[in-house]
Amino acid sequence: MCRVVLKWLVMTNLTYPDPLGDGVISVRPWRDSDLPCVEQASQDPRIPQGTTVPVHYTPEAGLAYIARQHARLTSGQGWSLAIARQDTDEAVGHINLMLRPQQGVAGIGYWIVPAARRQGIGSRAIALMTAWGLGAGNFARIEAWVEPDNHASQQVLEMNGYLLEGKLRSFLDFGTRRADVLVYSRITSDAEG
Ligand SMILES: CC(C)(COP(=O)(O)OP(=O)(O)OC[C@H]1O[C@@H](n2cnc3c(N)ncnc32)[C@H](O)[C@@H]1OP(=O)(O)O)[C@@H](O)C(=O)NCCC(=O)NCCS
Repeated sequence: MCRVVLKWLVMTNLTYPDPLGDGVISVRPWRDSDLPCVEQASQDPRIPQGTTVPVHYTPEAGLAYIARQHARLTSGQGWSLAIARQDTDEAVGHINLMLRPQQGVAGIGYWIVPAARRQGIGSRAIALMTAWGLGAGNFARIEAWVEPDNHASQQVLEMNGYLLEGKLRSFLDFGTRRADVLVYSRITSDAEG
């Protein structure tokens, strides 16, 4: 029992990994200079719904969003990182790995600004974050919750070896509506994506 508590305390003392990269994109901590990325995300119909990206963008609201991402680390909730083009360091998206209450389980979430979609960036970021999470991050399972009509998100997960486990009905509360979610997961013993 003590060992479990100790392990939990160690897990909540989080630090950022060294930037992850594959030659095309990098996954790194958010910077205040990434505001244009937050502004573009706020204009997307889906992103502000399921995240804390401001619906009405102002520089102050954007900076508060970036501060919230760092707070997720310092409060021990997980890692919330920017996705950037490796050549220019321009931020074009977001990916996070958040601790679930179950030991060794994390949830993954992500978005890419509309202008940078269909360039392989989302799937690359999921590949980097998943490899880190199941490797150095020491998680046994990474799971994703996806709305049934979000085929793009389902596709990028499947490309990365995530398996569909089932549907949780009326699981998420979006304020004005409740949504079913499909549960996807990758565990350490799954084949490479
Ligand atoms: C889901 C999302 C992150 C995908 O990011 P992306 O960088 O555009 O994805 P990729 O370029 O890596 O796509 C890889 C493949 O997935 C499939 N795919 C991606 N977007 C698709 C779409 N809109 N429709 C159909 N297939 C799609 C394609 O097969 C694509 O390969 P191709 O472009 O060579 O055909 C992005 O659409 C997004 O940010 N959506 C809004 C936020 C969101 O839904 N986040 C997830 C919540 S669970």
